[in-house]
Amino acid sequence: MQTLRYGIVGGGFVARFHCRALAQVRGIDVVGFVSKDPLDELLAFARNLGLGEPRAFASIREMVPHCDVVAIFAPNFARVEVVEEIVDAVKAGAQLKGLICEKPFARNMPEARRIMDLVRPLGIPTAYFENQIHMKCVKAARQQLEPVMAAMGAPLLVRSGEEHAGPHSGWFWDPTRQGGGVMSDMGCHCLAVGWYALTPPGKPVRFLQPLSVSADLALLKWGQPRWKEELLKRYGVDYGKTPAEDFATGMVTYLNPETNWKVKAQFTVSWMYDKMGLRLSLDGIGPGYAFEMNSLRSPLEVFIGDVAAAGLADTELALEKAQASRGLLAVQPNEADLYGYTDENVDAAEAFRTGRPPLLDWDYGVEITRLTMAAYLSAERRATIDLTDPATAAELEKYIPKIQQGRGAEVL
Ligand SMILES: NC(=O)c1ccc[n+]([C@@H]2O[C@H](COP(=O)([O-])OP(=O)(O)OC[C@H]3O[C@@H](n4cnc5c(N)ncnc54)[C@H](O)[C@@H]3O)[C@@H](O)[C@H]2O)c1
Repeated sequence: MQTLRYGIVGGGFVARFHCRALAQVRGIDVVGFVSKDPLDELLAFARNLGLGEPRAFASIREMVPHCDVVAIFAPNFARVEVVEEIVDAVKAGAQLKGLICEKPFARNMPEARRIMDLVRPLGIPTAYFENQIHMKCVKAARQQLEPVMAAMGAPLLVRSGEEHAGPHSGWFWDPTRQGGGVMSDMGCHCLAVGWYALTPPGKPVRFLQPLSVSADLALLKWGQPRWKEELLKRYGVDYGKTPAEDFATGMVTYLNPETNWKVKAQFTVSWMYDKMGLRLSLDGIGPGYAFEMNSLRSPLEVFIGDVAAAGLADTELALEKAQASRGLLAVQPNEADLYGYTDENVDAAEAFRTGRPPLLDWDYGVEITRLTMAAYLSAERRATIDLTDPATAAELEKYIPKIQQGRGAEVL
């Protein structure tokens, strides 16, 4: 098997998570990282996982000529400049087999289109990383139900949720840098997995046609004085001046172009889920069948009493975004695999090696950006957004949500 040399842009939370995933994928050698923060700890972590002898590069331009694949795991506000630098390196002679971009693809449609205008002429295969679609649970549900779906029809309604108690870095909370609040940060997960879970087996990921989006956004917890102050103190972000939503819910309606039947995906995301840690949930209903997933249900539980808990420091050892270090805790021993990070890397690497398309490419990322923008527009207008209307489609191309502009106080 041909070894692929990976270069990673970004050295934070998700880069580390992907290292844990890549350690479970064959034929990957991480040549290095580019980051704005010191990388010593991450380099040692990657080496210990057997991912090669990665080093810290001073710039993207320096790293790209050493890579077959470049993975963009930097913050949302840096997407366009990161892609510009990669493209410059390729134009200067670097040869890439593939490009990977984490979610969200872009903060708005002008950014998404700019990225595609830069990358498309190069003809390099692209993979958009939406981990939930690659979750083994999601795949298993579809495999198990495939004969049932063939007999009875595809799901008619799915409901997806991604919730935790709030992000780990200050820039996520700042709507002007991140792109908004939880809808921009995590709504993309639910939009993607909802669309996918409704899609009849064997059909392409964009087979179902999005018809309309309605959404409701709110600032329920982090706008309250006590929590607002904590954000200011911890991250220097002032939700008194530039608030973002910590809760979003809504509905996307799709058309099956073969049966002419409409199906629906409901989504709920929040940064105010004060329970054990990150919860990904998905349930679906078809004619005569159903499925249900909850990532907090684990075959493994541990209990830590008050006395034993004294001195316990790193609560995230048990679960991503863990909220407690004592009591009855759910433990997921292999979160990188559970959440789909392993399988999305397997899919991308195989695609780049063999030349087949990955399950999700950057055009798919653009479409998820469009649906996210439609959700913001719907919440601003308090109206359902008709995606089939040409005037609305044109408006979405230019639209920057008020929350993203730092004018969230006008709408929340
Ligand atoms: N799939 C998921 O569930 C998931 C989870 C977490 C994050 N993400 C996405 O991954 C991306 C990174 O998030 P994170 O949690 O790692 O953030 P983070 O704040 O933990 O880390 C960001 C890293 O990027 C570096 N960086 C900042 N600007 C840069 C630039 N211009 N060039 C290169 N490096 C730069 C920082 O130094 C830091 O190392 C975001 O787009 C986020 O939405 C996805």
